[in-house]
Amino acid sequence: MGSGGGKSEYRGRKTKIPRHIAIIMDGNGRWAQSRNLPRHAGHRAGVESVRVAVEECAKQGVEVLTLFAFSSENWNRPKKEVGLLFDLFMMALQRDVKRMKKNNVRLRIIGDRTAFPDKLQKRIHIAEEETANNTGLLLQIAANYGGRWDITQAARSVAEKVKSGELQPEDITEATLSAELSFAGLPEPDLFIRTGGEQRISNFILWQSAYSELYFTERLWPDFDAAEFDRALKEFSQRERRFGQTSEQIKEQQK
Ligand code: IPE
Ligand code: IPE
Ligand code: MG
Repeated sequence: MGSGGGKSEYRGRKTKIPRHIAIIMDGNGRWAQSRNLPRHAGHRAGVESVRVAVEECAKQGVEVLTLFAFSSENWNRPKKEVGLLFDLFMMALQRDVKRMKKNNVRLRIIGDRTAFPDKLQKRIHIAEEETANNTGLLLQIAANYGGRWDITQAARSVAEKVKSGELQPEDITEATLSAELSFAGLPEPDLFIRTGGEQRISNFILWQSAYSELYFTERLWPDFDAAEFDRALKEFSQRERRFGQTSEQIKEQQK
């Protein structure tokens, strides 16, 4: 799929439900702090919002949901918080696989998992295997993921192909690089949500968000419920995606 793949596929749809939603789930710590609770209580509350988001996506017919759970830079947090986040991740994987099977959700973890404890890597592998044949929503959890890491590892794969003679430098196109990225073969995110009030990307998807609609909300992630999710979808459906064209051209195509 080339970099324009997501665009044209999206255009073919009659309804304006995004095929792919990506979310930076931010604000767990502040949610907890405002209740005089430790930060990890916020992360725990955030897991419930993940369940809600997955359910809503499945219900609305969204094909892919990509959630930012742990960034390449989150290693810089206090060791204790990182450890508690991994424990929570482990627990959620254990507990929710059954639910995913029941709801026909396919789970995939994206990011550099080699840095995770062995136990967690095994658990991830099991969860992916057990849901691999599900045909409903694809749930991608971005863990130890960074947009720059993704582009770097894709560049490395392309370089290997050039080195082995499989590919000539002059044949490298946007599609060549796209094919090596973590989202290869998937529609690019149509809707990119960040909760928690910050208006930045924080090294989440970079290449694949070239034409995503950005949606920022003050709501903290643990408070992001079904009604908030619907609000984001409604706003998305009112946006005009022009992909470089004029508004007149878009209206003409919609006739
Ligand atoms: C997002 O919430 C979750 C992770 C980064 C793991 P935060 O923990 O960043 O919450 P705030 O931004 O401090 O409120
Ligand atoms: C982004 O949130 C990462 C995740 C939600 C996993 P951060 O809280 O780490 O982002 P910054 O540090 O405020 O930019
Ligand atoms: Mg944060």
